[in-house]
Amino acid sequence: MDIEKWDECRSINKALIDFVEEIDNGSNMKKVVAHICQSCGKKTRPVILLLSSRICGSKIGNALDAALSIELIHSASLIHDDLLDRGILRRGTKTAHEVYGTPAAMLAGDYLISKSIELISAYGKEVGMEFGRAGMEMAEGEAMDVDLLEKNSNNIVEYFNCIEKKTASLFAASAAMGAYVAGADEDTVSKFRLFGNKLGTAYQIVDDMLEYTSKVNNKESIQISPSLVDIYRQDMADSKAIEKTREIVEQLVSEAHEIVDHFPPSQSLNRLHEITNYATKDLFPEVGTRKC
Ligand code: FPP
Ligand code: MG
Repeated sequence: MDIEKWDECRSINKALIDFVEEIDNGSNMKKVVAHICQSCGKKTRPVILLLSSRICGSKIGNALDAALSIELIHSASLIHDDLLDRGILRRGTKTAHEVYGTPAAMLAGDYLISKSIELISAYGKEVGMEFGRAGMEMAEGEAMDVDLLEKNSNNIVEYFNCIEKKTASLFAASAAMGAYVAGADEDTVSKFRLFGNKLGTAYQIVDDMLEYTSKVNNKESIQISPSLVDIYRQDMADSKAIEKTREIVEQLVSEAHEIVDHFPPSQSLNRLHEITNYATKDLFPEVGTRKC
């Protein structure tokens, strides 16, 4: 599956290029932001927003600025996360603070957050509040993550609280905002929000799992948060812990599919199902490739 060829992804990439192009040349902001935007992956979250919006009857054009604002706040959060994790590489590219230093990286984060607020302000109260709440939850989740690492916690309840806040919140908001932009009712918005929550939770479990198995050789950090496998390994053999983790991911993914499955069949709905698998269980490493 090549998400980069989807019109949703192409539209976001074009919007990102145009955004960077418009940044004033008077400081190094343009360079730093361009560096970050180039190292930021498959645009999963904004694609989810655009697909949710299409499923609820909106055109891409109406939701594009909201999708861009999701991508920008996500990029800002990665800059800050890399500062906190003392990350060296992200997607095979040196992190912003490694290349430009901490002050420039922090200020680029500030710039991206501010731009995302400017973009989202055109969408009205519900969308703005959904967006603001997601940002607050991400910060809370990251604070929990720092705390869990510090106290070396392997508590499963704390783990799930942390990843739902730091990661699933933005997936949930992306899907909900897409529905809001299309004028969907609260019940429909809630379904999309829950769909995003399940997908985002599964996504973070797999992301942690990839770090655990050291399959990600294009990412390097000094601080690595505990994974679900680490938690299960306290009570069982490695292979069983991995299998149990896989089962949880599959359960979350199948719940996510089920939530949106009652919408009428369409290309957008197929794509939403595809991206759900692509971002989660398709990435789950094969048992046997692990480094335990
Ligand atoms: C990645 O975690 C980090 C996040 C998903 C959230 C980061 C959030 C913040 C730093 C709060 C800032 C909030 C706003 C609104 C800008 P990870 O380290 O497990 O994943 P990684 O492997 O991608 O580094
Ligand atoms: Mg990190």
